[in-house]
Amino acid sequence: MSITQAVWYLSFHTLYGLVKYLPMLGGDVLRYAVLKLFLRRIDGWVWFRDNVTIWFPEGVSIGSGSMVGENCFLDGYGGLEIGRDVLIAHNTSLIAEDHGYASRRMPIRKQPKTPAPIVVGDDVWIGCGVRVLKGVTIGTGAIIAAGAVVTKDVAPYAIVGGIPGRVLAMRPDDTEETPSELAEAALRRLA
Ligand SMILES: CC(C)(COP(=O)(O)OP(=O)(O)OC[C@H]1O[C@@H](n2cnc3c(N)ncnc32)[C@H](O)[C@@H]1OP(=O)(O)O)[C@@H](O)C(=O)NCCC(=O)NCCS
Repeated sequence: MSITQAVWYLSFHTLYGLVKYLPMLGGDVLRYAVLKLFLRRIDGWVWFRDNVTIWFPEGVSIGSGSMVGENCFLDGYGGLEIGRDVLIAHNTSLIAEDHGYASRRMPIRKQPKTPAPIVVGDDVWIGCGVRVLKGVTIGTGAIIAAGAVVTKDVAPYAIVGGIPGRVLAMRPDDTEETPSELAEAALRRLA
């Protein structure tokens, strides 16, 4: 790590440490202001509740209208891309890396890390106490049930739960126009 990088990380952890635990809206605003300086990208307003821990903020992007709940853990080492209007409930971790463990001759902590990006689509709801592991993509509109450990990609609009996460159901599709909506549209065209 270069001196510039070390100073950057020190600045981040010092400044963010000052605002990390502040309660309520005032805390949310100050956290947002600090994270706007250090995260890879924040589009529009995002709620960061208190005691959210962020490692490698330079790898974390998040879209507008999203919320990261209390005590969450975001690790951007391998890249963490979170879409718009995403709800991440309290005590959830998104971890874009693992420790390498290929050799028994060396302690795991000394082996090279194995990073891989996590991508979370727009309008995803991740319940409380979830763990999303490296390399996972969660499709638009999916729901991750409380307490799940997500090890594989999640299809758009799927509801996934359990350890390891499995599809419990698909969200209902209400995007087709109802007969009354179709009739109204036809009347509008005639008018
Ligand atoms: C995923 C969730 C939204 C599903 O709610 P729901 O549509 O009302 O579903 P149901 O409670 O009817 O459960 C449907 C099935 O999924 C199972 N299921 C529900 N939640 C589950 C979970 N967290 N883990 C594993 N299985 C779960 C149920 O046991 C049930 O299985 P069955 O059909 O074999 O009986 C809800 O269970 C959940 O986890 N919500 C997150 C709550 C949360 O973290 N809130 C934080 C504040 S934002």
